[in-house]
Amino acid sequence: MNDHLMNTYAPLPVAFARGEGAWLWDEDGRRYLDAISGLGVCSLGHAHPQVAQVIADQATRLLHSGNLVRIPWQEQLAEKLADVTGLEKAFICNSGTEAIECALKITRITGHGKGLDVPGVIVMEQSFHGRTMAALSATGSRKAQAGFEPLVGGFIRAPFGDLDAIAKIARRRQDIAAILVEPIQGEAGIRVPPAGYLTQLRSLCDEFGWLLIFDEIQSGLCRTGKWYAHQHENVIPDVLTTAKALANGLPVGACVARGPAAEAFSPGQHGSTFGGNPLVSRTACTVLDIMRNEDLAGRAHRTGGNMLEQFRQRLAANPDVREVRGRGLMIGIELTRDANRLKQAALDRGVLLNVTQDRVIRLLPPLIIDAEQAEEIVEVVFSLIEELD
Ligand SMILES: Cc1ncc(COP(=O)(O)O)c(C=O)c1O
Repeated sequence: MNDHLMNTYAPLPVAFARGEGAWLWDEDGRRYLDAISGLGVCSLGHAHPQVAQVIADQATRLLHSGNLVRIPWQEQLAEKLADVTGLEKAFICNSGTEAIECALKITRITGHGKGLDVPGVIVMEQSFHGRTMAALSATGSRKAQAGFEPLVGGFIRAPFGDLDAIAKIARRRQDIAAILVEPIQGEAGIRVPPAGYLTQLRSLCDEFGWLLIFDEIQSGLCRTGKWYAHQHENVIPDVLTTAKALANGLPVGACVARGPAAEAFSPGQHGSTFGGNPLVSRTACTVLDIMRNEDLAGRAHRTGGNMLEQFRQRLAANPDVREVRGRGLMIGIELTRDANRLKQAALDRGVLLNVTQDRVIRLLPPLIIDAEQAEEIVEVVFSLIEELD
């Protein structure tokens, strides 16, 4: 731990000096295969030449002008986001948690418009939506919330994947304005809901006049084999939050909406000094173009599908493995015991991976990994689990 950094992380004892594609090199020149992409951020891999070029070029032109003037690159980004989400309008911010804050403010203001004093938001147990006060309050983790009370009010919890619980809330309460849900829960350990769940949530929202908000901050941007994970079902939200991979490492988030939710704000009600600046917006436009041109959704579907199949086959009889879950290149392997020490063990074998919820090995490799790199990740993870004793 560094004496001058606040005690918020417990980092592994390694620092990377450079990267290229899915490879990282530490300060001593040792090479590692990246199977976590800085938590789902560097989906195009490290030092992507086109991304590097666009950042360098924009840095020589204009980094920042502020939102008091038009920003054409931000307008282009909003148009591209509308295209890939099927929604209408975007607010561009700097992180996932800010995108969530925007979605929650949209819910409050549209809810007040319907006469609700405290517009309620149904959120899921074990969800993760961020660390600012409202996002933290929406998050379904007592561990993350403990010590930070009083939390923001208005959140009603239901078990993830349980439609009856939501129907029960609908019968009991008149103050609900929205459902906020991750189409695949990330921090919770890559939990995939039952087929049809999102479609049924859409029906409930239509029936009761609630907004349906999908948090696709981790699951979005081609990671699961579609632009957004909810697109595996024929369903469209009213509001969607996206971030992480959007600028392949520059800080960015976006809240995208349609219908009344897209028209919720008027000037002065929401904003951000840095949000959507020319540098980040132009970079995000390039990232979206590369994702489309190189069909990274298709690639994630194929590579991730093969990895999942291999894990399922090879770990089926392993008593230390409770479940292999995921979609595309969003993969979780839940063990029956603590898996935290595998992070260092994997590093010793040249693979950087993550463990969430203590027992779930989480893999979010760059979407550009080739078959050989995918195979290497599978081999290392497989051998680590085999050798647990
Ligand atoms: C589903 C989800 N929502 C929100 C967030 C918060 O995003 P950020 O860390 O960019 O603020 C995360 C981050 O991991 C996430 O996975």
